Amino acid sequence: MRISMWVFALLLVSGFVCRVGAKGLDHSLHTERISGSAGDVLEDNPVGKLKVYIYELPSKYNKKILQKDPRCLTHMFAAEIFMHRFLLSSPVRTLNPEEADWFYTPIYPTCDLTPTGLPLPFKSPRMMRSAIQLISSNWPYWNRTEGADHFFVVPHDFGACFHYQEEKAIERGILPLLQRATLVQTFGQRNHVCLNEGSITIPPYAPPQKMQAHLIPQDTPRSIFVYFRGLFFDVNNDPEGGYYARGARAAVWENFKDNPLFDISTDHPVTYYEDMQRAVFCLCPLGWAPWSPRLVEAVIFGCIPVIIADDIVLPFADAIPWEQIGVFVAEEDVPNLDTILTSIPPEVILRKQRLLANPSMKQAMLFPQPAQPGDAFHQILNGLARKLPHDKNVFLKPGEKILNWTAGPVGDLKPW
Ligand SMILES: *[C@@H]1O[C@H](CO)[C@@H](O)[C@H](O)[C@H]1NC(C)=O
Ligand SMILES: *[C@@H]1O[C@H](CO)[C@@H](O)[C@H](O)[C@H]1NC(C)=O
Repeated sequence: MRISMWVFALLLVSGFVCRVGAKGLDHSLHTERISGSAGDVLEDNPVGKLKVYIYELPSKYNKKILQKDPRCLTHMFAAEIFMHRFLLSSPVRTLNPEEADWFYTPIYPTCDLTPTGLPLPFKSPRMMRSAIQLISSNWPYWNRTEGADHFFVVPHDFGACFHYQEEKAIERGILPLLQRATLVQTFGQRNHVCLNEGSITIPPYAPPQKMQAHLIPQDTPRSIFVYFRGLFFDVNNDPEGGYYARGARAAVWENFKDNPLFDISTDHPVTYYEDMQRAVFCLCPLGWAPWSPRLVEAVIFGCIPVIIADDIVLPFADAIPWEQIGVFVAEEDVPNLDTILTSIPPEVILRKQRLLANPSMKQAMLFPQPAQPGDAFHQILNGLARKLPHDKNVFLKPGEKILNWTAGPVGDLKPW
């Protein structure tokens, strides 16, 4: 009885999916403009709106580190390197620090990878501290604001908290010397010590050419209703392995592993990118970095992202209306995911697909080489420009000090 009900439901829904897929084709040339809370800003040109001064640092803070491990150019935190390269030749760059609105310190604290490619952030605080010591003694600009007109790209799991385990990251908090700076980071969660107000949340780096190479014809019907590939439990996908991702992924698996509408598994097939282009919804659940490239891939491949991560702050959230584009499901509502997704009216799905089809949406998720108008580099600059002019009170009075140079774990105070 139960099974026949499911078969019936599947027939109904696959008819529905095909209709949506076919209509998606009709509409494939029609996209919808994206307007965020900051206005219609995705296509803004930042040139002329801000000037950025790049500090000249010894190459041990950047180039030498990259030379030791070129894999840093392809992992999901590579934005710290590409942003540097982008700024060097950007028209917003100024060689005159006196006219700069923002100061940028080119440092690659995430480029320290294990043999298997996982970034180790243990040296990052000392490296960062060393760089800040250097700029604050060689130039007058740091001391003028104690970093409030400086920005840093810190794409690690928990940003400038510099630890990949959440409890440890929370215990450490944001590096004290970076408390006044603007942090450009992939980590985004409301009411979390590792996200300062005023930070700019960015997408993780996903290789654009690789995704491009897997594009399938646009008229391919979306015959998969819900798609997900990834872990449901801990690193070894062991159900006894503890409370992983606040249980959200385990709940997806337990409730829907046998549901024919859900194409979910831990296997990572070679057809992963193609499958996403055949799916209506792609799950983006918390865990193993909720901000992992999965969201970027969903946008690139036009699969409506289903965000299961309470309190997440998504990339460029003031410019991109994520609520209109994606579907947000509360972690506690995961058991109702099937009902939630099947009750979304087709016209709502079509509108989300049209918004996803907007090229400016895809462009904003990518760090292409060379850079292109409207890409993630430009969105970062737009975010910095929207924070101008600086409030007068960021400039300290003569002799005024706010930062405590000896705060934080003693291990961080050792020279780098
Ligand atoms: C900035 O302040 C630090 C610490 O107070 C001091 O050591 C440094 O010399 C100052 N830098 C400049 C350029 O005056
Ligand atoms: C700076 O931090 C250190 C270490 O936490 C603390 O002992 C010291 O009192 C702090 N200094 C000030 C001026 O708050």
